[in-house]
Order: sequence, then structure tokens, then C-alpha cells
Amino acid sequence: MKKLITNGTIVTAADRYEADLLIEDGKIAAIGKNLGTGAEEVIDARGAYVFPGGIDPHTHLDMPFGGTVTSDDFETGTIAAAYGGTTSIIDFCLTNKGEPLKNAIQTWHEKSKSKAVIDYGFHLMISEVNEQVLEEIPLIIEEEGITSFKVFMAYKNVFQADDETLFRTLLTAKEHGALVMVHAENGDVIDFLVNKALKEGNTAPIYHALTRPPEVEGEATGRAAQLTGVAGSQLYVVHVSCAEAVEKIDQARKKGYQVWGETCPQYLVLDQSYLEKPNFEGAKYVWSPPLREKWNQEVLWNALKNGQLQTLGSDQCSFNFKGQKELGVGDFTKIPNGGPIIEDRFSLFFSEGVKKGRISINQFVDIVSTRIAKLFGLFPRKGTIAVGSDADIVIFDPNKERVISAETHHMNVDYSAFEGMKVTGEPISVLSRGEFVIREKEFVGKPGSGQYLKRARFGSQEKPAEKVR
Ligand code: URP
Ligand code: ZN
Ligand code: ZN
Repeated sequence: MKKLITNGTIVTAADRYEADLLIEDGKIAAIGKNLGTGAEEVIDARGAYVFPGGIDPHTHLDMPFGGTVTSDDFETGTIAAAYGGTTSIIDFCLTNKGEPLKNAIQTWHEKSKSKAVIDYGFHLMISEVNEQVLEEIPLIIEEEGITSFKVFMAYKNVFQADDETLFRTLLTAKEHGALVMVHAENGDVIDFLVNKALKEGNTAPIYHALTRPPEVEGEATGRAAQLTGVAGSQLYVVHVSCAEAVEKIDQARKKGYQVWGETCPQYLVLDQSYLEKPNFEGAKYVWSPPLREKWNQEVLWNALKNGQLQTLGSDQCSFNFKGQKELGVGDFTKIPNGGPIIEDRFSLFFSEGVKKGRISINQFVDIVSTRIAKLFGLFPRKGTIAVGSDADIVIFDPNKERVISAETHHMNVDYSAFEGMKVTGEPISVLSRGEFVIREKEFVGKPGSGQYLKRARFGSQEKPAEKVR
């Protein structure tokens, strides 16, 4: 079935122009004026931007963590993502030491396949490197198209891997064409500071931030970047929260190391003072790395604007306040880390970034979609509006004002981290491979219609002149 989107303004990472867009068999078939009347459906996008669908490179759906399981699964999480203008996600598949990696991947396929309403891929966590892991990795890259591996440098005795594991993962990724992702915080030092705080009777949510100072994020980021330089490999630092980490990424890039950095909406608009909210409400704002002193926000915005950081992930990891965040009453270490963001990533960033003049509209598209597609082996299938690309499209009203609230969001969680925040700009309709998932702000998709994304090897899709910057 052919669809024609007319009268809209198409915006990509490079261009902004008025043109119509013809969709056929789930792909963008033509872009231009007077494309003919062969379409069965004509969608009027007058006054709206026509963006490539957002790609969220950092989600934790249906994930066991902190003694509980994230409250959004692949159905509620991807429905909320679609409402928010995201048409692809890459979720973190957790592995268990001593077990075949393929078992973990199978578990993640089972969690997602009949539930996802948009396309999805997986990153794979690596917590040990041994003969079995080294044997499995090339097969997983080849057969599953999983071309990014995640190493945690924090969460001691839970997910944390040592430096040898990180280094060997970097070497293996280089050999087989994958991107290594790190959660960069010094887990050993955090563990020491946490135990000291508890011994001293400091149990409130704010101590989560005080026991994970920015220096431990900067230190781990610098260490991972240096090891990447030694290995000659490639590194993506997730959820960068502070000036110390930006500085290390910048230094590494200036040396020519292949290092990229992601930040998240929470670090751009919230700050450490939220952890001091009364009645244990500070627990709603417990992320690792923690929210930072407010001045870091400007550093992060500038880093996005001038290319020191390249992408925006949500780090969607939702837990209800009632019954889940509350596990940490009287002991901040028992507060499950993470928050609900998947739905707000795109429009919050448009509102705070483009509308407030901090980034250009083309940078917006690059940061929420195009660059992510390039880094994670999805470009040009995803991440742009071009003939032959998947018709993952967001029709976006740039002037619509609304107030974010748990009352109206679609995530399966009982609070919003951005409650009461006014945003300008809203997705009106969202298409995944040419089919409406959201039509005029109503969900019309189908659980199970999202397709699993096998991704290309790192760096295999660009010609030298287009090398990922
Ligand atoms: O607090 C966070 N970020 N929770 C999700 C897990 C992680 O570290 O990304
Ligand atoms: Zn993390
Ligand atoms: Zn995360």
C-alpha cells in the first residue's frame, strides 16, 4: 500500500526542505514535489516537521535489577517510545557468568518478540572473557547481528567487570567489528564510599549522589578511553553526566582515539538537588551516574552542540515509586537505580534544545537518530529520510505545548521524573516501516509487529569519505 505524506517540512541531520514523501512496501520510495496520485492514503503534514524516527540506543526493558524488575516491558516500553517519537530501540541484554551468551540472547528474544511495537535490537553485556566467550562472540555478531558489547565498570559484585575483561573485550571488538560500550564509574571506590556512608548512618537518597562523585566517573571514563587507545579499538561511553567525563572523552578524541559519548535528558534538565526532595521522593531521581550539580547541564549542552558528545539515549529503566523505589527506605543502596524516560527523550530534547536555541534542528536529528544509526550499524536503513530507507517517520508539531505528567504518559510507572515540566513540540503521528503506530496521538500499532534488528558490524557501512565522525 502506498502512502503519501504531503505539505510537510522534511528535516534530516543535513537538510530541511519542503517536499512530499512517498512510502511503498514499508520503504521511502520517492521524495519530491508532484509525486503523483498513486497513493491509497494521503497524509497532510502541513505545519509539521517530518523527521526520521528517533532511535533510542539505551533501554532496559523487562530487566531484573536491584532486587526487582523494571516496570516497563517490551510492550509498554515500546508503546511509550512510539508515542514519544522513537521508532527503534537497542536494549541491553544481560548475561550470567558461566552461562553461554546465546542463552541470554534467547531470553531477550522471548521477552521481546511478541511484544515490541517498534523495531528493536540488543547490545550484549560482557562480564568475563574466557575461551567460551571468545568462541561465541564471532558467531553472535554473524548470526544475531549484535555488534555492540557493554562492559560495566561499576555495580561491584553485581555487573562489574575488571580492567582485563574490558581490555580483552576491546581487542575482540576490534578484531570482529563491534563497538564496546561502558558504564564508566569506578565501582571499587564507590563501594568503599558507600560502606563508609552506611557505617556513619547516612542512609537517605542524597547519599547515592555523594558516594558517587563526578571524579569517579571522570576517572573511569579516562581509563576506558586510554585502554581503547592501547587496544586501537572503539568505545562508546553511555550516560555521561558531568564535566569530568566530557573532558576525558574530548581529550581522547583529540588524540585521535575512536571514542564517543552519550548523555541523557535527565542530566540535561535535572540536578542533584532533586535527590533531597522530602518524603523519600528523592528516590525517584536515583540514577547511576547520579544527577550532578546544576552547572554541569551547560557543560553537557555545549558538548552536544560542539560535537564533544554525539548522542542522546534515554537509559529507560523504570521502577514504580510505590513498592519498588520504596525498597530503599532507610538504606539508599537498596533503591533500584534508574528512571522512566523513553517517552520524553525526543520531545524534551527538541523543546529544551531546538526551541531554546541550544542546538540546531539538524543537530537534533543527528543526536537523537542519525548518529546513533551510524554508530550502531543501522544506517542508512534507519536514521534518515532517504529513498530506500525504512519509512520510520515522525510527523511532529513544533508548536504544540503540553505539560509532562504521569497522569498522561504511557509508561507503566507511577511517576514522571519531569512532572509539571512544560514542553513545546509533540509527535502527532508516528510510522514504523510505513505503518502507523501512532495516528493523531492515538496508539494504533500491534504488539509483536516490531522486528528484530540485525545490525551491521562497526564501521562496515561507511565509505572512507563518510567515516563516522
Ligand atoms: O541508574 C541507571 N542508570 N540504571 C540503569 C542501569 C545502568 O546503569 O544503565
Ligand atoms: Zn549504566
Ligand atoms: Zn542504562
